[in-house]
Formats: sequence, C-alpha cells, structure tokens
Amino acid sequence: MIQCTFSDKKLKEQKVGAWVFFLEEDFSFDKELASLAKTYFPHLQTFMAHHKFTGKMGQSLAVVGSDAKGVQHLFFMGLGKKKTIIDVEDYRRLIGSMIRIAESRKIDSLALALPDKKTTGHDLEFIARTTVTTALLAAYRFNDFITDKNAKGFDVKELVLVAETKDKKIVMQGIKVGEIIGQATNRTRHWADLPANVITPPELAKRAKALAKEHGLDITIFDEAKIEKMGMGGIKAVGLASIHDSQLIIMQYKTTKKNAPTLALVGKGITFDSGGLNLKPTGYIETMKEDMTGAAGAINAIVAISQLKPDVNVIAVAACAENMISGAANHPGDIITFYNGKTALVGNTDAEGRLVLADALAYASKEFNPTAMIDIATLTGAVSHAIGPFFNGVLTQDDALADHVEQAGETSGDATWRLPMIERYKKMVENDIADLCNDGKTKYKAGPTNGACFLSHFVGQTPWVHVDIAAAAYDVPDTSYYRSGSTGAGTRLLIDFVMNWK
Ligand code: BES
Ligand code: MG
Ligand code: ZN
Repeated sequence: MIQCTFSDKKLKEQKVGAWVFFLEEDFSFDKELASLAKTYFPHLQTFMAHHKFTGKMGQSLAVVGSDAKGVQHLFFMGLGKKKTIIDVEDYRRLIGSMIRIAESRKIDSLALALPDKKTTGHDLEFIARTTVTTALLAAYRFNDFITDKNAKGFDVKELVLVAETKDKKIVMQGIKVGEIIGQATNRTRHWADLPANVITPPELAKRAKALAKEHGLDITIFDEAKIEKMGMGGIKAVGLASIHDSQLIIMQYKTTKKNAPTLALVGKGITFDSGGLNLKPTGYIETMKEDMTGAAGAINAIVAISQLKPDVNVIAVAACAENMISGAANHPGDIITFYNGKTALVGNTDAEGRLVLADALAYASKEFNPTAMIDIATLTGAVSHAIGPFFNGVLTQDDALADHVEQAGETSGDATWRLPMIERYKKMVENDIADLCNDGKTKYKAGPTNGACFLSHFVGQTPWVHVDIAAAAYDVPDTSYYRSGSTGAGTRLLIDFVMNWK
C-alpha cells in the first residue's frame, strides 16, 4: 500500500522521485515555474508549448529534469480555469493519471502540493481525503496469482501531501480518513477479484469474522442449517445446488451515544452466479465472481465505519450463496417462502439476487427496526444498458433518502443516477399462483425497477433505498484510477451514507 504523509516543507525540498505541480489554466509561467525551470529543465516553456500544455482540466505532462545532484522528475497536472469549483471526479481522474505516469516511469515516491480551497472550491480536508483514497484505488492491483515476481507490476510506495503548517491538522485528518476508505474499498475489490474457487460463502464468513475480531465488531453468522430453520427460503433455494453452504453474515457497530439512529447496510453476496438452471451463456458467465461485490461492500464498509466511529448504530447484513446447477438445484417454477412469510414463484433462477436479498432485508427490518436501510447489489444486467458504467442505479420511493444517497455518491465517488420506482410499476412482480414472481412481467421491461419492486415487499415500514451496482462494479472503462477487474462499487457509497447521516 502507498504510504501517505503530510509535509509542510516546500515541494522543491522533498526528497522524492517526482514533484507534482497542479496548475490552473493560463497560469503564469514566469511567476510559477521560471525559477524551477532554470534549475531543472531550462526549456520547459518551449516543451510545454510543444505539447500544448495549458493547464486545462485533465491535462498532464511529465518531464525528466536534473541538476548537479541528479535526476528530478517533474509532473504538471492541469486543474482547469481559475475561479471555478472543480468537478471532483475530474480531480480523481487526475490523481489516477499521476499514479499511472509514476508507474510507467518506475518512480516509487511522489510529493504533490495540495491545491487549496481557493483553487478547488472544496475544503482542504476533503481534497486531502479524496487524494489519498483515489491514490490508493489507483495503486491497487490484483496480482496474487502472478508467480513471476518481476511480472507483478511496479508499485508506487510513497505519496507526500505538501501543505502549509497551519493546515497540518486537517490534512492529517484527511489522510487518515482517506486511507480507511481506500483500504476498505480495495479489500472489496480484492475479494471480488479473487475467483469463485477461493471466495465461497464460508470463506466470506471467515474473512468477515477475522475483521470483526480485529476491529471489535459484533458478528453473527447463520450457516445453512440455521438459514433453513429461520425460514429463509430465498437464500436456501439459491444455494441448493452449491457444494458450499450459504451464509448470512450479520455485523454490528454500536455507538456509545444514547438514542442514536440505526442504519442497516445490506449486500448481495453471490460468490458465483452461473444463472442456475437458467444457465448464463458464454459472454455473460465469465465474470460472475463479481456478483458478491455488494456483500463485500457491506462488510468492508462497516469495518471502515468502526474505524471512523460515527454517532450512529450500524448493522451490515451480507446474504451469501453460490448460484449453481446440480440435481439439487431449485427449478424454474419452484415456489419458495421467505423469512417474512411471503411467497414467490421462481420464474427465472438467474434472478437470484432478489431471492437472497428478500430474506436479508426482511430479517434486517424485523430484527433491528432500523431508521433507514440501504442495499447494494449487482442485481441486473439491464442497469448497464440504462445508465452505463459510470453510475449506480438508485431506486426508492423515499425522496429524502434518494437525495441523501445522491449526495453520498457525489462526495464518495460512487456516482449514482435515480431510476423510476413508483406504485403503479409494482404490478410487474405480481403472480397468479404465488404472492410474487422473481422475474416479473417481461412486457414492462425496466429490469432495475422490476428488481426494486420485488425487493419492496420485504422491507416492511423501514425507509429503504436499493442501489443497483451491476453497471459500475467490474471492468469500468476509461477511468484512470481503476484497472480491469473489480472497482469495489458501493463500498465508498455506504461509508459516506453513514458518515454524513443527519
Ligand atoms: N448477477 C446478475 C446481474 C449482473 C449482470 C451483474 C451483469 C453484473 C453484470 C443477476 O443475477 C442476473 O442475472 N440478473 C438477471 C435478471 C433477470 C433474469 C430478471 C439479468 O439481469 O438478466
Ligand atoms: Mg449446498
Ligand atoms: Zn443471476
């Protein structure tokens, strides 16, 4: 992991491989760079002009400078026009580019001068936090199974955030929080990147247990026998064909503050989604180890929350099963009974996420009577067609909760987009021979809404929002701080949702 530190020494006094300068558009070369150029790279201005570097948002330019003592890399990053509030997502991508440039040049230590509030329009603690989280995300790679040490890739090891002495406290705070969020998100990514022959439901339970112990969280795990005994027919059905037992993981963070609200975080944990007897075809099945991203997100978010210690109570519920085929598999046409007593026809065994979430949501709302509940799930392929990979779909009938999630999306980086969820659409999950049907009426299309309408039958009176993370969870293109593989979608969102609860 990158070590991030604060320093109030000038950038040019930092003993690191590269100095990173943020520049606003139409910066004054004479005022800001002339003396630096004189020492390290005399023709910098010509070089910048040649590469058309103007400081436009997103631009980057790296040069190898040198003085009598040796080589000094210089990175210049464009922040765009003066006096505008910068789009934080642009800034994240800039930080991602910075890490990628360092990697490609094999520079293992960097120092950057944090852009101040006047420049970014955002307070310095937030910018420090975002810088650190994003640098950690950018540096993450999944190379556990590369056996040749030299082929594992080059890692940046050190990032120094340079700011004024008076801002030391808030920058240090930003670094600390940024690291906690980045680590939690990267742990979600790691679990999702690990293949389904490693990450099984019992393995997730084992990892959750170890983290709970390390961080002093309460944890309860229901194994398959208990799941059956509790009447959780959804989780039971989905896991029938798997050789691995299904698991319901419940973790609790308790604040010392009296009369604090309780928030429930629920995650879909299908460690492999073959589709079941409605088997997924080639082209759709290969990445289905990612289908536990929601469960990993709920677990890792509550771990981060226990480190950040907000004045709210939090429970995380991860519904884990493997959706497989065998002689024991649940069949299309089966009717199952859930924890809250409702029944559903299994119209399609590949709509299994809502079956496991139904029990998890019903359990969380009944046992903990939370103030609000949020679930994250890689629920539908359709959400990618609707909104593409840069957003998570938000579905709720509660406008205040929708606004809260949307805000969390903006500040955390797990951006969201709201999709329709109204009473009239609930007809699409009704059925003639059971209370509900898990694949709804296809003539309605609107896959993400269909999923949310199904889930709405399991939340009781609890204010609830469903977040479909299927579009943003894996192989997100053109985003400098990700690579191919898992993004950990939803983890940052849940942490922010809790930390900024009012
Ligand atoms: N795990 C999938 C959704 C998914 C697709 C996640 C692509 C990530 C990438 C989910 O269980 C599923 O198969 N959903 C079906 C629902 C349908 C049968 C109602 C889908 O989207 O086709
Ligand atoms: Mg089994
Ligand atoms: Zn499925």
